[in-house]
Amino acid sequence: MEQTYVMIKPDGVQRNLVGDVIGRFEKKGYKLVAIKLLLLTEEQAKEHYREHVGKPFFPGLLGYITSGPVVAMVWAGKDVVSAARKMMGKTNPLEAEPGTIRGDYGLDIGRNVIHGADSVESAQREIAIYFKEDESTSYEKTIEEWQY
Ligand code: TYD
Ligand code: MG
Repeated sequence: MEQTYVMIKPDGVQRNLVGDVIGRFEKKGYKLVAIKLLLLTEEQAKEHYREHVGKPFFPGLLGYITSGPVVAMVWAGKDVVSAARKMMGKTNPLEAEPGTIRGDYGLDIGRNVIHGADSVESAQREIAIYFKEDESTSYEKTIEEWQY
């Protein structure tokens, strides 16, 4: 089953949105296979956002993403990479539709609550930054018989 990397950013943790975000993924039907709370090192943050190194917003992004704990997660299920991006909404919360996480909870592009990998390849790359292989859990969910 496809997997994606989702991360609740420091503002989401501080604003008590962890339960809501996890609840949305659970209720949609995705399966949580790995989770941890951690403070990103500068090295992890630079690796995570390496495509943006050198852009004008990068220093601010780096300061923000390392400013407090994040919730790092791996979610699995049908088309979870693109579905997670849809559930998050557009990068700028002002352009994100109501009903999406960023659309419902965000005001500023620099404080947009959540990250989700943008492709299956990015997801694999990002999962490897935050999780060792033995930190993902393989288990059965009987509810899946009603979903697939
Ligand atoms: P990006 O990968 O373009 O967006 P997404 O998170 O939707 O994949 O950018 C990474 C993060 O960088 C984004 O979530 C917020 C921040 N950012 C800014 O602060 N200003 C900007 O102009 C852009 C494009 C992104
Ligand atoms: Mg991106």
